[in-house]
Amino acid sequence: MRVVILGSGRGSNAEAILLARQAGRLGRAEVVQIFSDRPDAGILALGPRFGVPAAFLDAAPYKTKLDGAAEEHYIAAIMACRPDILVLAGFMRVIKPRFLEAFAGRIINLHPSLLPSFPGLDGIGQAWRRGVKISGCTVHYVTSEVDGGPIIDQSVVRIEPDDTLETFAEKIHAAEHALLPSVIARLSEHR
Ligand code: GAR
Repeated sequence: MRVVILGSGRGSNAEAILLARQAGRLGRAEVVQIFSDRPDAGILALGPRFGVPAAFLDAAPYKTKLDGAAEEHYIAAIMACRPDILVLAGFMRVIKPRFLEAFAGRIINLHPSLLPSFPGLDGIGQAWRRGVKISGCTVHYVTSEVDGGPIIDQSVVRIEPDDTLETFAEKIHAAEHALLPSVIARLSEHR
């Protein structure tokens, strides 16, 4: 199963996927390409480290969505990788219908809350400020509804009395790093 990863940030989840692959825990999946919409994103440094092609793809002039000529550019570049699945690992742009149609049913996203609670930006901070005692992370198929597609799997994180926003965020990230590779491995076995 050919996997293309898209991310905008430090890439800790992409790293977890690549480490799982190294350890033989990614089933029949292999990462064939990493793309980022930010030239300075940490996720791009994983390419040379793991021997996977990694490239910046400009999404200007938009800041929060993938649209217009940039969307076409993304579709062409990703199509050229012949992906079986596209993993959004901290890709912070809204995906539009043209892109969704190009990769229908093949895009999964990671979100740092138990959806449908706390969709959108800063799922960790939203849950923290709301004072919930249980949160977690979600992997779901991407549809036109932001953070609203069918849920594939979730992992639970409990907020303890001595947690701070920082320790809570660390727990969420640890849960993500376990969940996302395991979902990819499972999907690869069921193709
Ligand atoms: C992750 O916590 C992921 O859940 C979140 O971005 C972070 C990326 O971290 N995604 C979203 O909030 C999407 N709505 P990373 O760059 O270290 O993998």
